Amino acid sequence: MDLKKTKLILQDKTSIELNIIKGTLGQNVIDIRNLSSKGLLTFDPGFNSTASCESKITFIDGDKGTLLYRGFPIDQLASKSNYLEVCYILLNGDVPTKKQFEKFHKIVTRHTMIHEQITRLFHGFRRDSHPMAVMCGVTGALAAFYHDSLDVNIKRHREIAAFRLLSKMPTVAAMCYKYSIGQPFIYPRNDLSYAGNFLHMMFATPCEKYKVNAILESAMDRILILHADHEQNASTSTVRTAGSSGANPFACIAAGIASLWGPAHGGANEACLNMLEEINTVDHIPEFINRAKDKNDSFRLMGFGHRLYKNYDPRAKVMRETCHAVLNTLCMKDNLLEVAIALENIALNDPYFVERKLYPNVDFYSGIILKAMGIPSSMFTVIFAMARTVGWIAHWKEMHDDTMKIARPRQLYTGYDKRKFISKLID
Ligand code: CMC
Repeated sequence: MDLKKTKLILQDKTSIELNIIKGTLGQNVIDIRNLSSKGLLTFDPGFNSTASCESKITFIDGDKGTLLYRGFPIDQLASKSNYLEVCYILLNGDVPTKKQFEKFHKIVTRHTMIHEQITRLFHGFRRDSHPMAVMCGVTGALAAFYHDSLDVNIKRHREIAAFRLLSKMPTVAAMCYKYSIGQPFIYPRNDLSYAGNFLHMMFATPCEKYKVNAILESAMDRILILHADHEQNASTSTVRTAGSSGANPFACIAAGIASLWGPAHGGANEACLNMLEEINTVDHIPEFINRAKDKNDSFRLMGFGHRLYKNYDPRAKVMRETCHAVLNTLCMKDNLLEVAIALENIALNDPYFVERKLYPNVDFYSGIILKAMGIPSSMFTVIFAMARTVGWIAHWKEMHDDTMKIARPRQLYTGYDKRKFISKLID
C-alpha cells in the first residue's frame, strides 16, 4: 500500500492533511478516517465515491468491462473452471490443488441435508408466497438449528457455518420451489455436482427416476459462477454491515437475501423476463424504449445499466453466449430471445442509452436460459441468492479475519432544530 498525501483546504484557510492509499488495481482512495475528529463529515448518498472497506476478493473495472475473482478474469473462470472450484478460489484466495479441491468438494457435498425439523417450518408459509420471502425466512431460521457454529469470534465456528451455508443453500432453494408447486421435497444426492444436485432437487419426483441433463447442468454451473461475487454491491454491503455488529452468519446471509430481492439489484432478472414477456413482439419495442426514456414514467429497461459498468457487463457477454448455446442444443426457439436481441440492438444505438453508457447487465439474458430450463421467473432471484452466498460468505469471513469495526454511517441532518415540546392532546 503506497501512501501519498493530499491537503484539504478549509474555508478558514486552515488545511487537513489526508493520506492517499493506492490499491493493487483501481482508483486511489483518500483516507478520511480522522475527518470526523476535525469536525467534518463526507456526504455520499448511494456510496458512489466511497470505499467502504479494504478487500482482496473481487475487482471490477467498469470502464473496461473487467471482472476478476481473486485476480482471475470471469470469462476464463466461466469457460475453464467449475462453480465449486470458483467457490474455493473466492473463499481461500487461490486455485486449489487436486487434493485440496477433493477435500473441499467432499465437505460441501456431504453437508447438503438440512435438519429435518426445518421441513415443517416451510409449512407455515402460504403456498403462494414468493420463494424469496420463504428463502429469506428459512435462511435466517437456520441459526435456530445450528447453535454449535454461532460464535463468530471462533475461527472454527466461522468455517463450519460457511460450509453449512454453501452446502445447504441449494437444498433450501429447491425446497422453496417444491413447496410453491405442492410437490414433495427431494433429498439431495451427494454423488452429483453442485449444479446437478440442485437440478435434481428441483425437478426429480419420488415417482420416477430423474436424469440430470448434462447441457442444463453445465449452463447452471456457469450461471452460478457468473453470479458468485461482485465486490461491494448492495447485498454484500448489507451482509458486511449486519456482520459488523457480530450478528450470526445465518442472520447476515438472510439480510443479504433481503437486499438482493429488490428489482434494482438481484430482483432484476425476474423483472427482466416479465418485461420481455410484456413486450412480447419486436414491434412493441419502441413503445417500451420511449417509456424508459420518459422522465415522468418510472419504467426502466430491466437488465440494462449498472452502477459500475460503463461498458458491456462481462457477465452479460458470457450469459448471451450461454443462452444461444442452451437454446440451440435443446433445439428450442424462444421468441423472447428474439425480442431481447432486437431490444439490445435498438437500445445500444439510441443516444439516450449511448450517452448514459447503459449496456445489458448480467440479468438481461439469464432469465431466458432459466426459462428454457423450465424454471419459473419467481425462482430466478432465489438462484442468484444461492450462487451469491459464497461471495457473501467470503466477504463476511474476510471482515472477521481483519480488525472489525461496527458499521455506523453518519448523516447530513436537515430536520428541525431543537424545539420545545407542547402536546396538542390537552385542550
Ligand atoms: N433504463 C432507463 N434509464 C436508465 C436505466 C434503465 N435501466 N438505468 C439507468 N438509467 C438512467 C437514469 O434514469 C439516469 O438518467 P438521468 O441521468 O437522465 O437522470 C441515468 O441512467 C443514471 O442512472 P442512475 O439511476 O443514476 O444509475 P445508478 O448507477 O444509480 O443505477 C441501476 C444503476 C442498475 C440501479 C440502474 O441502471 C437500473 O435501475 N437498472 C435496471 C435494473 C437492473 O437491471 N438491475 C440489475 C443490475 S446488475 C445485477 C446486480 O448486480 O444486481
